[in-house]
Amino acid sequence: MVAGGCGMAPLATLVEQLPSDTTLIHGARSKDFLLFPDRFDLAREFCTDDGSFGHQGLVTDLLERRITDGSPLDMVYACGPEIMMYKVFQLCETRGIPCQVSLERYMRCGFGVCGACVCGKQVVCKDGPVFGSEALREMKDFNKKALLKSGREVDLSLYFSWRCQ
Ligand code: FES
Repeated sequence: MVAGGCGMAPLATLVEQLPSDTTLIHGARSKDFLLFPDRFDLAREFCTDDGSFGHQGLVTDLLERRITDGSPLDMVYACGPEIMMYKVFQLCETRGIPCQVSLERYMRCGFGVCGACVCGKQVVCKDGPVFGSEALREMKDFNKKALLKSGREVDLSLYFSWRCQ
């Protein structure tokens, strides 16, 4: 399980239902932003952008390490910034590991009518917000485009490309 920033909040109840051999990779910009630092009874790897707690760097650094060292992974669940989830998806694809991510889009109607939350052909409020590898492979706007509150389309790479460096 990979949680970035506020992405820890929606994953919390799932964490408590998974087997005890689950590993949670949990990151935030600094120690003070780590949600529920003492809540779960399972193996955790922490990281922070500023190095104030755990590994200094990104959650995807730690996931990549686990994937490249051949750790057996049956499934990866992720929630956090879209660029983080996209990197998680890409890493999982290199080893054929199924993953599920929880997407975020501005929502208005919440039942698939207004189109505010579309991501490619998917309607996030109705078809998701959790999507698995198969759907993500077909989702051309994943980590590419989103609609702002105004309805104007925005290129996500303009906002987040610096985080990929
Ligand atoms: S919020 Fe209206 S279609 Fe999803």
